[in-house]
Amino acid sequence: MADVLVLGGTGTTGRRVVACLRDAGFAARAATRKPGEPGQVRFDWTDRSTHADAVRGVSAVYLLAPIGEAAPAGLVEPFLDDALAAGVRRVVLLSSSAVTADTPGLGDLQRLVRAAPEWAVLKPSWFMQNFTGEHLVAQGVRDGEIVTATGDARVAFVDAGDIAAVAVRALTDPEPHNTEHVLTGPAALSYAEAASVIAARTHRPVRHRAVSTASHAASLTASGIPAEFAAVLAALDEDIRRGAEDRVTRAVEEVTGRPARSFETFVEEEIR
Ligand SMILES: NC(=O)c1ccc[n+]([C@@H]2O[C@H](COP(=O)([O-])OP(=O)(O)OC[C@H]3O[C@@H](n4cnc5c(N)ncnc54)[C@H](OP(=O)(O)O)[C@@H]3O)[C@@H](O)[C@H]2O)c1
Repeated sequence: MADVLVLGGTGTTGRRVVACLRDAGFAARAATRKPGEPGQVRFDWTDRSTHADAVRGVSAVYLLAPIGEAAPAGLVEPFLDDALAAGVRRVVLLSSSAVTADTPGLGDLQRLVRAAPEWAVLKPSWFMQNFTGEHLVAQGVRDGEIVTATGDARVAFVDAGDIAAVAVRALTDPEPHNTEHVLTGPAALSYAEAASVIAARTHRPVRHRAVSTASHAASLTASGIPAEFAAVLAALDEDIRRGAEDRVTRAVEEVTGRPARSFETFVEEEIR
């Protein structure tokens, strides 16, 4: 099989997709704006001159939306045209459970990817890895207080490693999936429940404070996030509060043959 190009190859899901592909014996090309390691290729959404080399000799692409673009199709459509013309047959899009084909901006990408000869759209719920690293929720874990506008509604947090495992099957299975996969963890938890799992395992005080959507948007803006984006983030919390993420699917197990990782295991293995 020819190489698989992994866009966002240094990111939370992409680097796991690259590792999983290589473990399974496939040649993976990790796209990054600053290549420095073997197996990486320079790719910048905003610099079309980097696209031809990245897709040369590639059969399948793992595609993430360009970060922070209100109208990402403007960058993705010409890239896909060039990629398909260069011989790429399969495209696997990392979307989100919060995005449908009707969602302005990001929804357009689902339509574009479905036009590839072989495709899959991954629609994960919120990542467990938001509780680690640079994410605001992770900062809350470190501060001992996670603040959201989700009330006591539940989210079926999903592990980035499970998303990567599904992506690898979608990229390499002989039969294309040609479908959407809604990916969740094995159980839905409120942020308060997640905080108490973390507190119990780390022996550190961590709690959840529920605030209104308006006050959450205002404090995100005060922390330096542009007001428009802060409003989008707060609105996503409001969707959760209305129950949008309170459901569990079996897609991880159905596609990979092994159960999805639990939040408890994630905390035990990744939160110190
Ligand atoms: N977090 C969640 O709970 C959640 C839930 C559902 C869906 N999602 C979706 O997940 C996606 C993010 O995926 P992720 O977490 O795996 O990625 P990520 O960790 O946010 O990493 C972003 C990647 O994009 C690359 N990148 C940034 N600017 C670029 C540019 N101009 N051109 C090319 N590459 C660029 C970065 O690579 P370099 O810096 O090396 O160039 C990096 O590898 C988003 O679309 C989000 O909607 C997230």
